[in-house]
Amino acid sequence: MTVQGSKNAVLPILASTILIAGKTTLRNCPDISDVDCMCRILQKIGATVTKTGHEICVDASGALQSRLPAEEVVRMRSSIVLTGALLGRLGQASFCDPGGCVIGDRPIDLHLKAFARFGCQIRREDDNFLTVFAKRLNGVQIRFPFSSVGATQNAILCAVCAKGETVLTGCAKEPEVVSLCRFLNGAGAKIEGAGSKTIRIEGVKKLCSTEFSIDADRIVAGTYLFGCIGCGGSVLLNQAPWSQMEAVTVAAERMGAQCTVSEEGLFVQAPVRPKSIGHLQTGPYPEFPTDLQSAAMAVLTMAEGISYIEENIFENRFRIAEPLNLMGAQIVLKDGQHAVITGVEHLHGEQMDACELRGGAALVLAGLAAEGESFVTGQHFIERGYENICRDFRELGARITSV
Ligand code: UD1
Repeated sequence: MTVQGSKNAVLPILASTILIAGKTTLRNCPDISDVDCMCRILQKIGATVTKTGHEICVDASGALQSRLPAEEVVRMRSSIVLTGALLGRLGQASFCDPGGCVIGDRPIDLHLKAFARFGCQIRREDDNFLTVFAKRLNGVQIRFPFSSVGATQNAILCAVCAKGETVLTGCAKEPEVVSLCRFLNGAGAKIEGAGSKTIRIEGVKKLCSTEFSIDADRIVAGTYLFGCIGCGGSVLLNQAPWSQMEAVTVAAERMGAQCTVSEEGLFVQAPVRPKSIGHLQTGPYPEFPTDLQSAAMAVLTMAEGISYIEENIFENRFRIAEPLNLMGAQIVLKDGQHAVITGVEHLHGEQMDACELRGGAALVLAGLAAEGESFVTGQHFIERGYENICRDFRELGARITSV
């Protein structure tokens, strides 16, 4: 099966198209509801957006408005990166508290501090909107106290058209930061160092029309990889971005899988029964991604032996422990950050409710591997990030339908 384009890469790139007073063509965009939501926001603030299959064209050359629509913003946390793009283009942005998955508090203090460093003022409006504005953005030095993907991206968006040089240290090194910078450089930005802790940006007067192809989704590839380990057999993940997946393939191999890289992508051969993994901890890239922690947990419930998971990014990411235990798993949560999983031979089918994107996909993995039938409700959460999880798993031999 072919891995879809990356959600976390395309969303900030779509947001950044409003920095360009011209046309942008993006290829290999995933057909998911978060992308539709971002496109709706772009349209509501005045851009023209045309979607044809996996290609999206944005024309942001017309007049734009600085107030982001609340209805969409509360649905999707990644809408926060529109703020940096609007500041770069208009010098002003108004938004309500961004929403997103229910996986923790997810504050935006780093974003707001970065805006303030660029010389912005922040005002709370009567209707609970925040307005951020500046006469002009000036290049600055910012040191992030810890890694934040969104705050790094927002600071980059403020800096590309700011006056003078910006130096960001303590940046997130995620591939999605790198692809945003590659996209912006293709439009005429001057950014160096993406993928390292220090990023230097020389402000330019304007960005120009460009075309770009979105990377394949490392989290979707990882989901199907763990799906294969949970169910057994083998799978070829065409176009999987294996070079961005080292921590994931290392974890998979510790579970007993064999991962082989070829020109086509990543081939995974699952063990007869997965092995426990000892200690698995999530962390900023290149460490094991928090977005695949739930998928790994679902598989480890059926592994031989005891595994320990430490979640270091979001505080509410063990919500699937309860439904998994109803399926016969033995997961003990020590606190919001530590889980002990004693592997059982089989899970049994259950009725489960997906209450967020990655946890929902992990419940699907558990249902596929379990004995008997499972029902997962809350499909719309999964559709935020997976084009068609049922189609993909059917292609891999599963019996799964959307009802
Ligand atoms: C992005 C990804 C998300 C992934 C996460 C971590 C997108 C659209 N989403 O989310 O899928 O799980 O990276 O890899 O790309 N934090 C603060 N204050 C802030 C900002 C963040 O305390 O102002 C904290 C967060 O609560 C979290 C940590 O920093 O504990 C990392 O969050 P961050 O990297 O910002 O995640 P997102 O960019 O929201």
